[in-house]
Amino acid sequence: MRIAELTVDNFRNHTHTTLQLDPGVNVLVGPNGQGKTNLLEAIYLSCVGRGWRTSRDNEMVQFGKDNALVQVTAVKKFGAVDIAIQLGTGLKKSIAINRVPIAKVAELMGQINCIFFSPDELKLVKEAPADRRRFINIDLSQIDKTYFYALARYNKILQQRNAYLKDNSDPRELAIWDGQLVKQGKIIIAKRQEFIQKLTPYVEAKHKELTGGQEKISLTYETCADLEKELLAARERDLRLRTTTVGPHRDDLAITINGQDVRVFGSQGQQRTVALSIKLAELDLFTKLTGERPILLLDDVFSELDSSRRTRLLIAIANTQAIITATDVPTSGKIFTVINGTVKE
Ligand SMILES: Nc1ncnc2c1ncn2[C@@H]1O[C@H](COP(=O)(O)OP(=O)(O)OP(=O)(O)O)[C@@H](O)[C@H]1O
Ligand SMILES: [Mg+2]
Repeated sequence: MRIAELTVDNFRNHTHTTLQLDPGVNVLVGPNGQGKTNLLEAIYLSCVGRGWRTSRDNEMVQFGKDNALVQVTAVKKFGAVDIAIQLGTGLKKSIAINRVPIAKVAELMGQINCIFFSPDELKLVKEAPADRRRFINIDLSQIDKTYFYALARYNKILQQRNAYLKDNSDPRELAIWDGQLVKQGKIIIAKRQEFIQKLTPYVEAKHKELTGGQEKISLTYETCADLEKELLAARERDLRLRTTTVGPHRDDLAITINGQDVRVFGSQGQQRTVALSIKLAELDLFTKLTGERPILLLDDVFSELDSSRRTRLLIAIANTQAIITATDVPTSGKIFTVINGTVKE
């Protein structure tokens, strides 16, 4: 799939911007603070229904304005799809697909799939487990609605269970939540395991490609063996610590290179390459699973790579629509200059 056109109104520092995008590489160029990343964020919003820099929709509405509008026209195998999202400082977010309003964000998932990568995504490798779970949650939700729903239900039950634990101490009451927690938790764990298992060969291939065959990478999803049993066994501890200590909300993804844990021992460059390998692997896996190639959003990635890795990256994304931000004019692609919230082709 590819995005043909993006229009934003009162979105961050863009009062009114329209872009006609190329099927290949598109580069948004301009000095710092001009509104390049803002445009990637608008595209991301039209794919997953939320911004990545904020969970508060209001922050994306231009200062002093009441509402923002993001419109995207994408071309897919079986025709065009039109997404319109309106954000308001007072009102609830409204989303329409082909001009028909939808009731739940879940319906937006999978309409346009994107893979997003920025230097910040290094968190995926080196920061806390929560960042690795976030990556799995967002990306897996795009291609699997069952997962998205299970996750939403799980989080709700977890919140209620934790709220109960805050000021109560009757272990029998916990059973009310535990059945549901285990049911949704098992779906989440199984789906994550399957996702990582399917992703692994693609990550191995990409990593080999990016490192010239120097490094052998492996991924393992770390979870509890029997959620039901472990939840029951942890009851005393949960009551004492007043929070739910067992479950997929505590799981992690172990990443090793040549047998060593990259989370702990990897160099900055290795960690960056691992994160990039994972993201590029997702491009291929999503294509295989959905029949459509997702859109790649690269924020400030080129400035971080040496020239041989840049070239390898460009080769790796040759058949993908990519929207890239940069501060210098690159050698290839359709170029848009972004200055103070306005764009020139
Ligand atoms: N809600 C908003 N209303 C108006 N302007 C906003 C809003 N949110 C952010 N901005 C402005 O957007 C600008 C940042 O835009 P953006 O992050 O897209 O910059 P950039 O071109 O990617 O820069 P860099 O090269 O530094 O990454 C800032 O000047 C900020 O003040
Ligand atoms: Mg930026």
